[in-house]
Amino acid sequence: MSKTIEYIIAGNWKMHKTVAEGQAFVTGLEQRIREHPGIEVLIFPPYTALDALKGLSEKIRIGSQNIFYEEYGAYTGEISPLMLKNLVDYVLIGHSERRHVFNETDEEINKKVELALQHLFRVILCVGETLEERDAEQTFERIKTQIEKALQGVDRLSLNRLAIAYEPVWAIGTGKNASPEQAQEVHAFIREELAGYVDHPAEIRILYGGSVKAENSFDLLSRPDINGVLVGGASLNVDAFSGIIDHSYKLIDQ
Ligand code: PGA
Repeated sequence: MSKTIEYIIAGNWKMHKTVAEGQAFVTGLEQRIREHPGIEVLIFPPYTALDALKGLSEKIRIGSQNIFYEEYGAYTGEISPLMLKNLVDYVLIGHSERRHVFNETDEEINKKVELALQHLFRVILCVGETLEERDAEQTFERIKTQIEKALQGVDRLSLNRLAIAYEPVWAIGTGKNASPEQAQEVHAFIREELAGYVDHPAEIRILYGGSVKAENSFDLLSRPDINGVLVGGASLNVDAFSGIIDHSYKLIDQ
């Protein structure tokens, strides 16, 4: 089986790695992976390492973990799209930690998505339910609302630069991942929802995230609506991350 769209294997380093550690990682990963037309390898380092990592490897793209929804102004500590231009291809928006640790709202996420797409970045929008919401059988409703609010008023044509990451909050950094069946069910739902926003929902990459590691990545990636993974913990180590990339080669080449 081979899929027609390119997988994204993305690593979110969160608040880890100095510039020197980031450079050592990218140099090490570069030696372990090959150029593959079916796979896009992407790293989200901290802001401080973006400049040093940009262009360090032709096989590895760089993205920003966040962005602000204004271009400039009195916003201490924030980073504008103008500052990220020419540094990154991708921007991660609405990660669960942004929503839950920093209380980012759906409205702020909407403004970020709109501005980032206007500035021609590719956006990975994160969505996902909490354990409470899953237990109360509100998973689909919650995800529908997150997508609806994030994409409200966004230019339809710009959505060809959008990807979605489904990350159940209860699976992030907990070692508990959604089963491939549970993830596929939600991914299929997300794709159906996207049909209301784009002409070709089959072309939008939908990534799974939450305790992904080499051991479970093959099974997840083999599901029809899972087009990539967003990896936290296992993206901090070259062996662990390249193990996931190896599984994606196997899947595409089989
Ligand atoms: P995890 O993190 O792989 O450590 O669960 C995933 C994420 O936060 O994107």
